[in-house]
Amino acid sequence: MEAAATRELAPAPPAHIAIIMDGNGRWARNRGLPRVAGHERGAESARAVVRACRELGVAYLTIYAFSSENWNRPQTEVNDLMGLLRIYLKREINELDSQGVRLRFIGARERLPPDIIAEIEAAERRTRANQGLVLAVALNYGSRDEIVHAARAIAADVAAGTLRPDQVTEDEFAKHLHTVGMPNPDLVIRTSGEQRLSNFLLWQSAYAELVFTDVLWPDFTKDTLQQAIAEYHRRDRRFGARRG
Ligand code: FPP
Repeated sequence: MEAAATRELAPAPPAHIAIIMDGNGRWARNRGLPRVAGHERGAESARAVVRACRELGVAYLTIYAFSSENWNRPQTEVNDLMGLLRIYLKREINELDSQGVRLRFIGARERLPPDIIAEIEAAERRTRANQGLVLAVALNYGSRDEIVHAARAIAADVAAGTLRPDQVTEDEFAKHLHTVGMPNPDLVIRTSGEQRLSNFLLWQSAYAELVFTDVLWPDFTKDTLQQAIAEYHRRDRRFGARRG
């Protein structure tokens, strides 16, 4: 009885959660394992968090799988990460699709291996009409690069005379970002104790609540997610306005 009442009173979860999944390397090192073992466990955490978001009724989840700066890692690690992505795309797509998950990939397509580009485009096509959780995977993503490309596209429209400078509004600008059509994140979580955004959703996170946890990404569970959501609910979101 009491449990049912508590459930009824539970506040709605944030509509859009974005996660910087950090600490795979340290998790592996702490166990004397190769870094790739940390990434493998990290991919399992990503899988669990997708499920948790569906269960909690989160509408949008964005995960930072590979940043544009990650190319600077040793080639073997880049290959390991791309390899894992290949495996997961192939292995998970049926289940994600049957669960109504709509997949989208944000980030620059260039530089990604051609078979991965084909795979992500197929996954986007296949799940386009799904009505469940929107799962955005940031892949070769960098926020400054995204913003520069948006500015360039707008400059081209203005130069072509199809857009007047006074029509360049925040809404117009956002239409040129990879996240077009998605709401801004309400909650950005970063694991492993680091407290920075690392070029992730800089425009979109202007008013997001930031929650940092010391938990390393491979140890992240539905419980950790719920703790971050509870922290989010304790915050007082004013969007720059005054209270009362
Ligand atoms: C950070 O750990 C994590 C990444 C570089 C990428 C995240 C990748 C995964 C969770 C696995 C693959 C993802 C998918 C979607 C299949 P780190 O290596 O920076 O850790 P460290 O800071 O402890 O070295």
